Amino acid sequence: MSDEIKKGLLGIVVDETTISQVMPDINALTYRGYAVQDLCETCKFEEVAYLVLKGDLPNSIQLNKFKKEERENRNITINLREIIKHMPKRSHPMDVVRTVVSVMGLEDKETSDNSPEANMRKAMRIFAKTPTAIAAFFRARKGKKVIPPKKELSFSENFFYMCFGKVPRKEIVKAFDVSLILYAEHSFNVSTFTARTITSSLSDIHGAITGAVASLKGPLHGGANEEVMHMLKKIKKPENAKKWILDALKKKKLIMGFGHRVYSKGDSRVPTMKKYYLKVAEILKEKKLPKMSQIIETIMIEKKNIHPNLDYPSGPTYHLMKFDTDFFTPIFVMARITGWSAHIMEQHASNKLIRPLSKYSGEKHRKVMLLNQR
Ligand SMILES: CC(C)(COP(=O)(O)OP(=O)(O)OC[C@H]1O[C@@H](n2cnc3c(N)ncnc32)[C@H](O)[C@@H]1OP(=O)(O)O)[C@@H](O)C(=O)NCCC(=O)NCCS
Repeated sequence: MSDEIKKGLLGIVVDETTISQVMPDINALTYRGYAVQDLCETCKFEEVAYLVLKGDLPNSIQLNKFKKEERENRNITINLREIIKHMPKRSHPMDVVRTVVSVMGLEDKETSDNSPEANMRKAMRIFAKTPTAIAAFFRARKGKKVIPPKKELSFSENFFYMCFGKVPRKEIVKAFDVSLILYAEHSFNVSTFTARTITSSLSDIHGAITGAVASLKGPLHGGANEEVMHMLKKIKKPENAKKWILDALKKKKLIMGFGHRVYSKGDSRVPTMKKYYLKVAEILKEKKLPKMSQIIETIMIEKKNIHPNLDYPSGPTYHLMKFDTDFFTPIFVMARITGWSAHIMEQHASNKLIRPLSKYSGEKHRKVMLLNQR
């Protein structure tokens, strides 16, 4: 057995998956064999959610059944709604989401049933209810009345409706749908690996997703989309961007929304998201933000050869859609529940306890002295 330590499991292949493939050499990403760019242009988010969860694109009968099930499961309990209303208003929404998924586990009748059928039903309930809980906190913390979900609306339309009381024009909804498709799945990233690790002890899906949410919160992972927006807000206007970024690089600061563990020549999801970011900005007649984004991107590539990741264009897109900055990562959760659930079910289907080794580098063996002798 080799003693070499690969910090952060760098370059280590830990298992097989049939859910998605990241191909950094050719800058590609596929879900179940379909190029993610093609899915974005051809499908609605619900179709891709079905694909990720069930393994294939649905026909229209399968899709209608799936949509019906999702829509019928959107309501959260009165108990959960009251808990959300009473949560501290200053709570980070990701902490709220983490708690909410955990509470759903307390309420779910099938929590301890890990059969594939029960797991699929629970995945659907978590998928359908989490946006309702997120939107409830979005409004409750501002002292606004919580808006219940509407069955006639699509997944994305309904989320806008529950947050703002109205649905924006179809191009904005499409851009949101695209962001969800791009966020749905990404192989063995930190949160997915967390979910699989929790599952490997034969724990349940609510627990695994609760852990995954906690892991996604970090700024090196999902939390980066919020950090990108904080950075753009600090820079304020395009004229400040060049100086700000050069100063930050001189101080060896980490620039959020750039770099990736797997992609070295750029994140395969960025061109699609950037296209929709620019479309949204154009519709809303916003010029400053895309200009700032472009200046920073150009300098990062020129000076550091570090490319943007998906969080870089998605953050300002959500800002233009009027979501509060600390709700960007919860939106990521809404999409990634599909990927996490698929991985949890895949792990259950071919489980082996995940238990790596460590090399001990602490004190040599020591004699325990009596308390009065220490
Ligand atoms: C994503 C990330 C954690 C990948 O990290 P990693 O694979 O461990 O790579 P490293 O952190 O070792 O980076 C390698 C080098 O590039 C630099 N680098 C990587 N990302 C950078 C960034 N966003 N800004 C500035 N420098 C960066 C590192 O400082 C390091 O430089 P060094 O070799 O001189 O020390 C890292 O790029 C990062 O922190 N990015 C910002 C957070 C972010 O956007 N996360 C979302 C990811 S989808």
